[in-house]
Amino acid sequence: MEGLRVGPRNPWQDGEPVASLCVLRELGDRERRVAVVPSEVAKLQALGLSVVVQSGAGDAAGFPDSAYSAAGTTVAATRADAIATADLVVMVGPPNVEAVSDIRIGCALLTLLPPAWSVDVIEVLRDRGVTSFSFNLVPRTSRAQVMDALSSQAGVSGYRAAVVVAGRLGRVMPMMMTAAGTVPPARVLVVGTGVAGLQAIATARRLGASVSGYDVRPEAAEEIRSLGAVAIELPLMAESGAGGYAAEQTEEFTVRQQELLSNAVAASDAVITTAAVPGRPAPQLISASMVEAMRPGSVIVDLAAPSGGNCELTVEGSDICFGGVTIVGAGDLASDVATSASSLYARNVSNFVKLLVHDGEVSPDIEDEIVVATCVTSAGEVRHEPTRRLMEGAAK
Ligand SMILES: NC(=O)c1ccc[n+]([C@@H]2O[C@H](COP(=O)([O-])OP(=O)(O)OC[C@H]3O[C@@H](n4cnc5c(N)ncnc54)[C@H](O)[C@@H]3O)[C@@H](O)[C@H]2O)c1
Repeated sequence: MEGLRVGPRNPWQDGEPVASLCVLRELGDRERRVAVVPSEVAKLQALGLSVVVQSGAGDAAGFPDSAYSAAGTTVAATRADAIATADLVVMVGPPNVEAVSDIRIGCALLTLLPPAWSVDVIEVLRDRGVTSFSFNLVPRTSRAQVMDALSSQAGVSGYRAAVVVAGRLGRVMPMMMTAAGTVPPARVLVVGTGVAGLQAIATARRLGASVSGYDVRPEAAEEIRSLGAVAIELPLMAESGAGGYAAEQTEEFTVRQQELLSNAVAASDAVITTAAVPGRPAPQLISASMVEAMRPGSVIVDLAAPSGGNCELTVEGSDICFGGVTIVGAGDLASDVATSASSLYARNVSNFVKLLVHDGEVSPDIEDEIVVATCVTSAGEVRHEPTRRLMEGAAK
């Protein structure tokens, strides 16, 4: 990987910060998170960075400009002012074309960026010579865990999904024994029990629901049981994936999976779905006829909505009602819990930036396996092999 150095060589002299890290206000009405919170600023400064925050960037997450000023950052009045001197831009993202078009040529960028869905953005980054790093490509290794923003945000989303269920259901979550009689606990089914699903199970259990879980990875059954939920195991042979992830299954598998899950879905008051396969559309696990078989008043929260949804009827960003069943096409629910989600994300950012900044200059360690794995573009090239192939294929 040649050409990964960013900007002019600019040694850190006399301990004075030389490179500038820029925190932008996220674009998009629904995004409330911010990439750096005031409590992380000192760690970034210790690397020799000066931190510039666009005014208002942290407002929606509960971090006003005054908190950033008190932490020693420069608060820039406008986006243009913030970005003007940036050597490294950090964002939550994923950015659209507009959000990267004004990044300085030769600058570095660290953000959530799912490469398969971001080809237009990656073209802009490549053409501007931006050295971009995607949190979506952080390897699932022990060393990389502290930088794993997908996991930190998935955990918060899973928690939030259970809270959304509790808010939408017309029934209480725990069993309630009252003088007027006993109300049974709500039955919650969680489909897809990776990071988000396990957190949804744990939260729904704490709220008192009767919870069951299902995942295509056989090893997930033990994790479901360890949280006190019932593991649903189906007589199906699934394709196994790489790196701890699930693989995309065949169409026959999906049809059979729907048949076998239909009773469990119909018996549930709420279903939280989180099933995903990296870089592929979300598997369709709940058909319209399965929704029809649910009781009116039931709720589905589909965390896979941004990649197409696990339910046939999901509409991303909207709630729809079908036969009395509410289907919440959740966007990124972590954004609803922006203070906690931003604090965790900012820790992922600080840990990652340590790999990118040395002696006060942005000079990524090109030998580092995490740097190599997460680099999407640099020096006018697309470095992420699958994305380059995808783009070359599209150009033919
Ligand atoms: N640092 C680490 O070692 C590390 C960090 C995070 C996650 N992980 C592991 O990686 C794995 C995936 O985690 P994730 O939450 O990021 O996954 P993810 O968001 O990609 O997918 C969510 C879940 O959907 C499941 N799924 C996919 N297709 C399915 C189908 N057809 N039917 C039912 N379920 C389906 C997956 O198995 C996964 O558990 C887990 O084993 C997790 O423990 C490891």
